[in-house]
Amino acid sequence: RDCERRLRQEVQKYSVELRHAHETERHRVARELHDEVGQTLTALNYTLERMALHSSGTGIEIAKEASSLVADLTSRVGDLCLALRPHVLDDFGLGPALIWLTQRFEQQTGILVELLHDGLAKRLPREVELGVYRLIQEALTNIARHAGAKRCAVRCASSPENLVVSVRDYGVGFQVDRLSSGLRGMDERVQELGGRLTIRSSPGQGTCIRAKIPLPIKAW
Ligand SMILES: Nc1ncnc2c1ncn2[C@@H]1O[C@H](COP(=O)(O)OP(=O)(O)O)[C@@H](O)[C@H]1O
Ligand SMILES: [Mg+2]
Repeated sequence: RDCERRLRQEVQKYSVELRHAHETERHRVARELHDEVGQTLTALNYTLERMALHSSGTGIEIAKEASSLVADLTSRVGDLCLALRPHVLDDFGLGPALIWLTQRFEQQTGILVELLHDGLAKRLPREVELGVYRLIQEALTNIARHAGAKRCAVRCASSPENLVVSVRDYGVGFQVDRLSSGLRGMDERVQELGGRLTIRSSPGQGTCIRAKIPLPIKAW
């Protein structure tokens, strides 16, 4: 039993390290895409505009066509950066990032999200903001993939002591017996932050994912 316990701890440790490495890599790729690829595309577009100005006849048409392809590519690269690591989370914190995430989710899936957030005007520790953002992102992805729901609700309330998050849908629900990778990842993230995750779901009744995460006490 000792050996099993040790192995479990090892697995958990590696899983935390893997998640950190994954986040660092996403951050790096997003920055590279934004700074290198994004800026080169902007320069390319500018060059094509100049080319159109100095061309005539079909030359102008071709430059305009190329310019519109570049604009399309720029917008795809922008979307990719946001999916990898939304800078709104790093720059403005969890509240604005959740507004952005849920609006984008509604546009992409047609599923209505009721978002209630409270006490998020102040910035929270970076690892809490990122962990909670990823938790809600994964829960919403599950709703789009599995729930067959038309609407759902996201709540996120912060008090000086803790942060309470829930994602509820009114879809098909499922039997929670063993946690598979996505749900286990959510559970591990919350445990890593010292919190607790509960998953309530039953067939036909919808699903509710809830997490309570303690916040560090500020020493004044
Ligand atoms: N909101 C939900 N509504 C219905 N079923 C769900 C929901 N979330 C998860 N499930 C069920 O739990 C399973 C495990 O979810 P998850 O661990 O995220 O894996 P994945 O999304 O990759 O299938 C899903 O395959 C699905 O059957
Ligand atoms: Mg999933």
